[in-house]
Amino acid sequence: MARSGGCGYHSQAMQTRPQNTTRQQASVHDRQIRDMFAGIAGVYDRMNGLLSLGFDAGWRRNLTTRIDEGAEDLLDACCGTGELILTARAAGKGRRWVASDFCEPMLRAGVASNDLGRQARVLAADTQRLPFADASFDAVMVGFGLRNLGDLDRGLEEIVRVLRPGGQLLVLEFFRVERGLLELPIRFYLARVVPLLGRLFGQSPDAYRYLPQSMGRFVTTGHFRQALTRAGFAEGARIEAQTLGISHLVVARKPSN
Ligand SMILES: C[S@@+](CC[C@H](N)C(=O)[O-])C[C@H]1O[C@@H](n2cnc3c(N)ncnc32)[C@H](O)[C@@H]1O
Repeated sequence: MARSGGCGYHSQAMQTRPQNTTRQQASVHDRQIRDMFAGIAGVYDRMNGLLSLGFDAGWRRNLTTRIDEGAEDLLDACCGTGELILTARAAGKGRRWVASDFCEPMLRAGVASNDLGRQARVLAADTQRLPFADASFDAVMVGFGLRNLGDLDRGLEEIVRVLRPGGQLLVLEFFRVERGLLELPIRFYLARVVPLLGRLFGQSPDAYRYLPQSMGRFVTTGHFRQALTRAGFAEGARIEAQTLGISHLVVARKPSN
């Protein structure tokens, strides 16, 4: 596994990223996030399926259908155990596949359980400082990773930089729930059911309290659209609700010139 960053192993109390953080606060945040994922790497895939009631596989498949047919170089950033890049490969998308994440235990879990090392070039790297030349990829995918970044704007700018002109960003994410009929049931599921399942079946209850907290502090889909434009993506990104708006699929494009 190539290395461009380290990963600690001890768990710390979790904090969600406050708005307007200083650079130092952002790096403390990043370390806590890395340690948290290191603590649950061994059970991550199993818990993912359980907590999403099995919908996560369908969300990933849906994303891969949107990857341009001619796309050759694909990056799965914040790849975790690599489920997304593997789904893309299985769907016949891409010719060269790179999977990066800043938490080595997550990558190792993917190598051990998903044979990720044979399916993609696997790299330990921070999505806010991607170790790739400008215009290296036709498509960058991020599955449930952007919400964790210490600096969302910087992460999006890095993704624009490594995309070729006209290239795609495809995102799966849990955005902050907006007011509406489903607000209360979704909040109840996230705030009560997810931490309970995490306590019963996961290794770290803190990690499963983090999910609803981080969603509550993340941007809404409307604010995310603005962040995409600020970072340099073309206007008119598609943002589609999946499974009653629990998760969203975003497809944005770098301008062609
Ligand atoms: C919720 S998991 C998602 C994993 C995978 N993409 C999926 O769809 O199941 C979030 C992942 O983002 C990674 N991550 C968070 N912040 C990151 C950063 N700044 N750079 C690289 N990876 C990061 C974590 O280590 C973790 O593996």
